[in-house]
Amino acid sequence: MIHVHQDGPLKDFNTFGLETRAKRYARPVDVKALSELLEDKDLRQMPLLVLGEGSNILFRNNFDGLVIQPGMKGIELLEENGEELVVKVGAAENWDHWVEYSVEQGWYGLENLSLIPGSVGSSPVQNIGAYGVELKDRFEWLEAWDMQEKHLVKLDHKACAFGYRDSIFKREALGRYIISHVVFRLNKKPELQLDYGNVKDELMKAKGSSPMDLRKVIINIRNSKLPDPSQFGNAGSFFKNPMVDRTIFKCIRVEYPEVPFFPNDGNQMKIPAAWLIEKTGWKGKRIGKVGTWPSQALVIVNYGGATGQEIFDFSEKILEDVDQQFGISLEREVKVI
Ligand code: FAD
Ligand code: EPU
Repeated sequence: MIHVHQDGPLKDFNTFGLETRAKRYARPVDVKALSELLEDKDLRQMPLLVLGEGSNILFRNNFDGLVIQPGMKGIELLEENGEELVVKVGAAENWDHWVEYSVEQGWYGLENLSLIPGSVGSSPVQNIGAYGVELKDRFEWLEAWDMQEKHLVKLDHKACAFGYRDSIFKREALGRYIISHVVFRLNKKPELQLDYGNVKDELMKAKGSSPMDLRKVIINIRNSKLPDPSQFGNAGSFFKNPMVDRTIFKCIRVEYPEVPFFPNDGNQMKIPAAWLIEKTGWKGKRIGKVGTWPSQALVIVNYGGATGQEIFDFSEKILEDVDQQFGISLEREVKVI
């Protein structure tokens, strides 16, 4: 049986930098150790939290249960055929290290997802996305421990039911699976995705043309907009961008002709939550030790020493104001514990 820590500190495992602790903490490095851990009769009674690198989690309190941080490492080339590769990656690999490694190997397709914090194992949970690419576009299948059936399962694209910042792991299968490995399908031939925002212009300005050049451009754009969690605690976008019905969108547009939007399938429009937050006067606003980031209103920052509850209360105020001014209920992207 692997070592289970008592009263384990989680400060280094949450990007808000909160001084929080877990009643029990364990890091199984393989599926056998994970399944044995889950069989322990005392631990089985406790609430369970699966933790990657804590870059999308807000702890309001200490966690009065067992935190499992999957420790499966490794990058394995499973298949190579013609122009494609299939690669299996352990849940505990850092996401951006994996992206960097893949680009260096000439395995292309993940460049736009450069510098997203977190682990590989949590990447399918909210179907991470940035700059015109989502995990689902490069995903093949994953392996997970099914806590209901008590065996290892293989889940394909369809089973994961990916959506915008969404998957089965956040809905009907919430709390059922612990992802141990994720399998990607990548290209040997570069196919740069340059459609989002100023990506193409920035690549031209940098006189770049390779996937590694694109990776560097994405890193520069991100660094210019987003706070570095090692300096200012944050979890990236705090809310999701809302989808609104076209009729509601039209009403907003009458009053705010400049409203930015992204057409979506069906009868809905995606409006940037950052814009809604900015319009309600919250951009760069600070209350005590909590504030929104001056160049990205969607990011809530712990300026040092804030509590999880203070961050949560701050987010509630934003929710209320956006609801009152626009009649739109923002949904938190960050998981609140
Ligand atoms: P955690 O925060 O530890 O966990 C997230 C969720 O996944 C939790 O519900 C947890 O229980 C669950 N989970 C974790 N590991 C597993 C597992 N092995 N099996 C089952 N469930 C698991 N996200 C984007 O999509 N795009 C961005 O551009 C982006 N930018 C960001 C920028 C910054 C500065 C920060 C701090 C965050 C950003 N995020 C972004 C959010 C975050 O990077 C992602 O959500 C990331 O996938 C979280 O990884 P993590 O390992 O830290 O997960
Ligand atoms: N905008 C404002 N005010 C701001 C910032 C942005 O009005 O302070 C408006 C602008 O019109 C801008 C638009 O919002 O054109 C979009 O801004 P940005 O390109 O920065 O993207 P976002 O919609 O705010 C989303 C993701 C990010 C991801 C970027 C790039 C969500 C919730 N967030 O942000 O993901 O990195 O696109 O693809 O979808 C995360 O999930 O944590 C995250 C950082």
